[in-house]
Amino acid sequence: MPADEILISETEIQNRLPELAAEINEALPDGPIHVVIILKGAIIFGVDLARALMRNATLGFLAASSYGAGTKSKGRVQIDTEHLGEIEGRNVLLIDDILDTGHTFAKTIDILGDKRPASLRTCVLMDKPARRETEIQADHVGFTIENHFVVGYGLDCDEAYRTLPDIRIYAPE
Ligand code: PRP
Repeated sequence: MPADEILISETEIQNRLPELAAEINEALPDGPIHVVIILKGAIIFGVDLARALMRNATLGFLAASSYGAGTKSKGRVQIDTEHLGEIEGRNVLLIDDILDTGHTFAKTIDILGDKRPASLRTCVLMDKPARRETEIQADHVGFTIENHFVVGYGLDCDEAYRTLPDIRIYAPE
């Protein structure tokens, strides 16, 4: 299939999760936290990481979409906040699968900031700095990768491959 080449193995991901969780737990204040996962790509990583934190956490979700095909790189991202949960006064951890141009994360951070959380930390499974079009960085990064189109562990190509246990390079045949 066009996604045969494994970039990050299941073992590497599973080994990185407790390391990331320890970093995040050290950085976040004690007490309950609210974990916000950006759909759909971060659903698997987000839930795995939230469990690895092993602390009192509630879950919220955001769905990001472009206004039209090909417009996302211009920053035209629309965010659905219906299932976000309460943000004001809470310690919030925002999780996404990949930081690419940064437009999705930038807009999401603005939306969360406007809701006045007590604190906000951010985490991405993968950072692809070669593609960045914004100043955005994540506080915690699982893996920094080259400019590959990747699928698996939540990431898709036309909705396929999300349930692969590892991250693979997508190369059409
Ligand atoms: C992907 C990914 C990130 C975003 C990163 O989502 O899950 O949320 O793009 O790109 P950016 O840094 O250039 O904004 P996508 O819109 O493909 O939706 P999905 O998560 O539902 O697959």
